[in-house]
Amino acid sequence: MRIAVCPGSFDPVTLGHLDVVGRATALADEVVLAVATNVGKKPLLDRGLRVALARDAVAHLPQVRVEPVDGLLVDFCRRIGATMLVKGLRSGADHDAETPMALMNRHLTGIETVFLPADPSVAHIASSLVKDVARHGGRIEDLVPPGVADAVRAALAGEGTR
Ligand code: PNS
Repeated sequence: MRIAVCPGSFDPVTLGHLDVVGRATALADEVVLAVATNVGKKPLLDRGLRVALARDAVAHLPQVRVEPVDGLLVDFCRRIGATMLVKGLRSGADHDAETPMALMNRHLTGIETVFLPADPSVAHIASSLVKDVARHGGRIEDLVPPGVADAVRAALAGEGTR
């Protein structure tokens, strides 16, 4: 059984992530969306909420499950028997950021990363931009799965009171 892992911060999950996860189901029998920690980013949403929103977003995809990941991504992959990582690339900047991680993960355990070019219809969507648009009062409903926009706005409102 081929298991693919789609890793990320998912802060929040977007239609861009769903594009990649959906296409990854053609490459593996099972796809695990791994909600991990990026030490370079301070998340807006706590991890439990990121996991819950991602679970709702993939509920219609029977091959896909969502798991929180602590520690090294490659250790998680080894634990569940995953044979590949799958990531989307929107731009040259994504390529530059993702390639060292892909090579490091391969160095650590030999696991390969498959890059999928983002579909042009969602290539402009990034979680960071979604949050920025929402922070400035813009509409994000057509950038994220149902329910995510309200969760982002609620978290931003809470941030304002901190
Ligand atoms: O969505 P992001 O922030 O680009 O995802 C990056 C993420 C979370 C996949 C990466 O930071 C990661 O793999 N974190 C888990 C810890 C780990 O394995 N670090 C070494 C990466 S080479």
